[in-house]
Amino acid sequence: MTLVRSRITGTGSYLPEQILTNDELAARVDTSDEWIVQRTGIRQRHIAAPEQKASDLALAAARRALAQAGVDGADLDLIVVATTTPDQTFPATAVFVQKALGMTGGAAFDVQAVCSGFVYALTVADNFIRLGQASRALVIGAELFSRILDWEDRATCVLFGDGAGAVVLEAVEGQGTSADTGILTTHLHSDGRHHDLLYVDGGVSSTGTIGHLRMEGREVFKHAVTKLAEVVDEALTATGLESSDIDWLVPHQANRRIIDATARKLDLPADKVVLTVDRHANTSAASIPLALDVAARDGRIKPGDIVLIEAMGGGFTWASALLRW
Ligand code: UT7
Repeated sequence: MTLVRSRITGTGSYLPEQILTNDELAARVDTSDEWIVQRTGIRQRHIAAPEQKASDLALAAARRALAQAGVDGADLDLIVVATTTPDQTFPATAVFVQKALGMTGGAAFDVQAVCSGFVYALTVADNFIRLGQASRALVIGAELFSRILDWEDRATCVLFGDGAGAVVLEAVEGQGTSADTGILTTHLHSDGRHHDLLYVDGGVSSTGTIGHLRMEGREVFKHAVTKLAEVVDEALTATGLESSDIDWLVPHQANRRIIDATARKLDLPADKVVLTVDRHANTSAASIPLALDVAARDGRIKPGDIVLIEAMGGGFTWASALLRW
């Protein structure tokens, strides 16, 4: 039986020029490079220039992904941007990207699922393509967490950074088996009972302010390890694949210890895990497409490889997808 699947045909990423090292942070708050590296694996983060907005970062990553795919912006029929730090309350950051790319038809909108945002956006675009509502989509994760951090709170300000990543998704024909190329399965979850363990203490209709990120780190950590293992198993079960079939784990880059725990549960050796958290810290929805771009461009991820992506974030939200590159 033939069916439509969506396949990643191009990746792109962008990190702002300014780098903020752990030592520089240690000069501002009571922390140290040693503590940050040991507890998180993070060595530095990138910080956007004051005039840069989410759509600027998104656009830079998008242009690189489109160039690699050989697709013109005008030929897209869908843009989904995952962001928690949009340019404006409305319109969606996606429409600024749409305008800059010269795309006048189709649809462009944002998805908000915090750190799971990219997997959510990818799932939405994949569903559009599989249902025939779109044939060529751009999926972007773009974040400027530097704008919502409390720079005096050492428990959170050391963890996050700014950046963007993008993928081009195009419709391809499949046979409905795990031997197909493209996205094989996606799994989304949320549980709003945990909304107050990782959140921003401001908002348009509550305080009328932007607010700052607040987190119960230890609780988030515990949930992440458990929920990610579950959602990864779900993806394997849905496709009939084994963990030994996975060529690359490209996880949300929040904390090296969480990533190591997921890899251990899957019995995956370290050299099958794409790790970029050291260079850009947690960039929320941007982290998976950033890591995908690095590993696709340096030749690690090759056509035919099985790639597992997974993420967990505020809400709580958690999600996974399995794809054949
Ligand atoms: O994308 C999803 C969103 N977030 C995450 O995935 C983050 C999940 N959580 C984590 O990654 C970890 O919980 C953290 C990295 C945030 C913290 O690591 P931890 O091993 O869970 O440390 P902790 O919160 O239990 O704190 C240990 C100690 C505390 O001191 P006491 O109470 O033991 O004296 C903290 O006050 O470390 C202290 N601490 C710090 N020390 C130096 C907290 N932040 C810092 C810091 N520098 N930046």
